[in-house]
Amino acid sequence: MEKILALSGAKLIEQLGTKEKYWIDYRGEKYLFKVGREKTRENLSEVIAYKIAFLSDIRAAKYLFARFENKLGVASKSIVSDNESLIHGNELLVENIKNYPATEFYKVKDYKLSTVLEVLDKLNSDFAKEFIGYLVFDALIANQDRHHENWAIIQDENSKFKLAPTFDHGSSLGCREPIEKIKRRLITKDRGFSVETFCKRAVTPFYDKDNKLMKTIEVVKFCKNFDKTTTEFYVNKISALQISKIEDFYYNEVPNEYKHDIVEVEFIKKILEINKQRLEDII
Ligand SMILES: Nc1ncnc2c1ncn2[C@@H]1O[C@H](COP(=O)(O)OP(=O)(O)OP(=O)(O)O)[C@@H](O)[C@H]1O
Ligand SMILES: [Mg+2]
Repeated sequence: MEKILALSGAKLIEQLGTKEKYWIDYRGEKYLFKVGREKTRENLSEVIAYKIAFLSDIRAAKYLFARFENKLGVASKSIVSDNESLIHGNELLVENIKNYPATEFYKVKDYKLSTVLEVLDKLNSDFAKEFIGYLVFDALIANQDRHHENWAIIQDENSKFKLAPTFDHGSSLGCREPIEKIKRRLITKDRGFSVETFCKRAVTPFYDKDNKLMKTIEVVKFCKNFDKTTTEFYVNKISALQISKIEDFYYNEVPNEYKHDIVEVEFIKKILEINKQRLEDII
């Protein structure tokens, strides 16, 4: 199979958001094509994160390297069929919290992890459980972008709900860290500049009860208090990931067009090793 999907077809709509993206009708299926921001490695992170989810048995939208109208980006086949609709986190939260600021994305003090888990749990306890899996996965990949439009439920024509597979993991795996800084971080003796410290700083958009932004591992600790068995179940799943498979994927499957410098894979491996250990340490 070609390493880069050559997308063609009618541009359906331009999806609003912070980066360039379109829905495309490709061979009768809807694909979201999006272009990672300049000076980031979002395209690479998106596909590698998908690979990690796949290997760890976390239900995720599939992302492929793709080209459309001479632009390089990633493509994801729609997770929603024609008779279904996506209801994002903010739409659910608006119904549950008075004056919830649904149109803001960051620094939303009402975006409390406790509320999100309770809202999902009320809908269906299995949704909250699987969502905990997404949050453990986020901690592994240092995803800082689980805001209220980056998770959703799917409603079918009979008004039945299911949790949507996890999507949008481009802002993970340290994709914004410049290559020059990565090189220095990987060899530094300064603890404050180490990859360990970099991982510890990863912050999420969730607030705790004291209105403090939560770090990725704090989120998982909270999940453990909410549902110990489920959190342990997902940490164990993540623990079973063979990081060497991600390295193999980088060398064998990632097209050169999406590579920047070989240190990026060393950095990704190190982030995964550190976060895997930090997750194992809390259960
Ligand atoms: N595979 C998919 N199937 C269906 N809908 C999707 C899929 N991927 C993304 N979406 C929808 O498109 C929206 C934008 O996609 P995505 O979140 O990946 O883009 P983004 O630009 O990275 O987001 P942000 O604006 O959060 O930075 C999502 O919030 C979701 O509603
Ligand atoms: Mg998004």
